[in-house]
Amino acid sequence: MRIIITGGTGLIGQALSVRLVSEGHEVLVLSRSPARAPDALAGVQVARWDARTAEGWVRFASGADAIVNLAGASLATRWTPHSKRVIRESRLNAGRAVVQATAQATSKPGVVVQASGAGYYGPRGDEALTEEAPPGPGFLGQTAVAWEASTSPVGESGCTQPGSRHIVIRSGVVLTPKGGALPRMMLPFRFFVGGRLGTGNQWLPWIHIDDEVRAIQFLIETAAASGPFNVTAPKPVTNREFSRVLGQVMHRPALFPVPSFVLQLLLGEMSTVLLDGQRAVPQNLLDLGFTFRFPDLEAALRDLLD
Ligand SMILES: NC(=O)c1ccc[n+]([C@@H]2O[C@H](COP(=O)([O-])OP(=O)(O)OC[C@H]3O[C@@H](n4cnc5c(N)ncnc54)[C@H](OP(=O)(O)O)[C@@H]3O)[C@@H](O)[C@H]2O)c1
Repeated sequence: MRIIITGGTGLIGQALSVRLVSEGHEVLVLSRSPARAPDALAGVQVARWDARTAEGWVRFASGADAIVNLAGASLATRWTPHSKRVIRESRLNAGRAVVQATAQATSKPGVVVQASGAGYYGPRGDEALTEEAPPGPGFLGQTAVAWEASTSPVGESGCTQPGSRHIVIRSGVVLTPKGGALPRMMLPFRFFVGGRLGTGNQWLPWIHIDDEVRAIQFLIETAAASGPFNVTAPKPVTNREFSRVLGQVMHRPALFPVPSFVLQLLLGEMSTVLLDGQRAVPQNLLDLGFTFRFPDLEAALRDLLD
């Protein structure tokens, strides 16, 4: 297969590229700064894009088997009006560029995989959330709605060609020691001061990085797959349980809760990511027969950290 990955220099994109290339697929990563591509992508073709137009890469999109659109400014920052605009606009611009490239391609890509997150569902308490649940209010939910919709025009048929299959991946917190949330969650435990966040009752939709990239590849290769998919482990846990298991795997106590108001003071509105969980269930992946290598948190963390 020939696969284009926008934002492929990031945490998920690197792991996905390495896996696909190792299986003999042709991968093209689109980056705003190819010269700064990480060493892990040695052997992967990296080309420049401006993350807002199709300029310079339509020829790659023509006849590609898949475009995986992962690009977007990091959420892990203090959410000011400016950073919120950057988070939202970077995603909508990248989506528009993918639609443009697909429209201009002489032969349309088979499938477009659009990134999103379980934050789509907003704060929902203990409700089990399949893909049919409606989106939540607030910045994260509303940004996810617009982000998912940004590439939906690729599914529309032209006068001579059928549209591309459109898939949305609502990922949980992707666990890998190489970056993202896990190293940050581990830090207080290293110093024996780890514990739950807030009440600890909020759900934490998580997924092992291997299952994240396996699921993306599965969705590309499965012709029957289209629409939204929760890309989360089938056994989500509460933040309290996550802290307990992380402490156990790291041989550290989990005795020091961080009160909600401290997180709110430190992180502002971004603290909602940690304090409002989602009990997301990967119903559509399970229905298609996808099997998780790491359905259980303890086995996942032992694999990643031991
Ligand atoms: N990791 C998770 O736990 C998780 C969970 C749910 C959803 N997601 C979403 O899935 C996508 C991929 O996740 P990730 O963890 O791999 O993200 P990441 O490590 O932050 O990588 C995203 C990539 O997007 C590009 N980018 C950064 N700022 C940009 C901007 N202002 N405009 C356009 N492109 C920009 C960067 O590539 P260049 O600098 O090379 O252009 C970066 O490598 C993200 O959009 C993220 O929100 C991630």
